[in-house]
Amino acid sequence: MIDSKTKLLGLIGHPVDHSFSPIMHNAAIEDLGINYRYLAFDVSEENLKDVVAGAKAFQIAGFNITIPHKMNIMKYLDEIDDDAKAIGAVNTVKIENGKAIGYNTDGIGAKKALEEKTGILINKNILIIGSGGGSRAVSYELAKENKLTIINRNIEKAKILSEELSKNLKKQNSITYGDLNVDIKDFDIIINTTPVGMYPNMNVKPVIPLNDIKYGAVVMDLIYNPLEPVFLKEAIKYGAETINGIGMLVYQGAVSFEIWAGKKPDVYVMKKSINSNIR
Ligand SMILES: NC(=O)c1ccc[n+]([C@@H]2O[C@H](COP(=O)([O-])OP(=O)(O)OC[C@H]3O[C@@H](n4cnc5c(N)ncnc54)[C@H](OP(=O)(O)O)[C@@H]3O)[C@@H](O)[C@H]2O)c1
Repeated sequence: MIDSKTKLLGLIGHPVDHSFSPIMHNAAIEDLGINYRYLAFDVSEENLKDVVAGAKAFQIAGFNITIPHKMNIMKYLDEIDDDAKAIGAVNTVKIENGKAIGYNTDGIGAKKALEEKTGILINKNILIIGSGGGSRAVSYELAKENKLTIINRNIEKAKILSEELSKNLKKQNSITYGDLNVDIKDFDIIINTTPVGMYPNMNVKPVIPLNDIKYGAVVMDLIYNPLEPVFLKEAIKYGAETINGIGMLVYQGAVSFEIWAGKKPDVYVMKKSINSNIR
C-alpha cells in the first residue's frame, strides 16, 4: 500500500524506459515488506541541479544515476565518498539530514557478481578490455587486491586510467596497460567492458579473440542485453566459464538498496524479477 509514510527511491538518466532497475528494486521492496517505491525519471542534463535540490526538498530516500549523468551529477552533491571520488563517477545518491551524498556501487557490484563464480578474488591476474565509465568502476575495485592489465582501442585512455588507479589506490598490486593486441594465455579472468556485441549490434566479431584462453579462465561481459553476447559465445566455444552483466546490475542495485534502506535485499528475488521480464 502507498500511504503518507511511503519513501521514494528512483533512477535518473536518459533514456531510462528500458531500465530493469524499477522492476528489481520494487521486487526487493515487496519481498522485504517495507514501505518504499522505486520509479524511473528521464532527466536532461540542464535539470540535474534542480533534481538534486528537489530530492532534498522532498526528502526522498535516494536515487540511482545512470548514463549519461554519472559524472555530471557530482558537482551538485554535498558529499562524495572516497571510492566514488577515486572512480570519478556516482551511481547512487542518498539523501540524509538534508544532504545529498554520492556513492559508486558499480565496481563492488561487478566484484560480487564475479565472486559468485570464483570465490574471494585475491591475487588473480585480470584482463580488463575497455577504459570507459564501466571499466573505471570495475578496474578500481578489482585493482585493490589483484593484478590488472587494462587494454583499450585508444591506448592513451588505458594509460591514463592505469596511472590514475595506481595513484588513487593506497594498496595496489601491479596495474599495466596496452592495446587490443594482447597475449591472453596467462589471465585468470577476462572482462569485456566495451559495448561490442550489445543490442542491437549483436552480430559483430568479439572485441578480442579468445582461442588462446587459459584452461579454467572466467570470462565476464558487462553487457546484459543480449544475455549471451558474442564475447561470451566465443568464451564458451573455448571452454571458459562465463558471466553476463545481469549479476553486476543486480549486485550494484543491492548495494545501493542497502545504502538507502539499511537492509540487505534478496539478490535472488532481484535476479528472478529481471529474468522473468527479459524479452
Ligand atoms: N551490467 C552493468 O551493470 C553495467 C554497468 C555499466 C556499464 N555496462 C555496460 O558496459 C558497456 C560499456 O559502458 P560504458 O558506460 O563503460 O561505456 P563508455 O564509457 O562509452 O566506454 C566504452 C569503452 O568501450 C570501448 N569501445 C567502444 N566501442 C568499441 C569498439 N568497437 N571496439 C573496441 N573498443 C570499443 C571504448 O574505447 P575507446 O576509448 O577507444 O573509444 C571505451 O573504452 C555497455 O555495454 C554498458 O551497457 C553494464
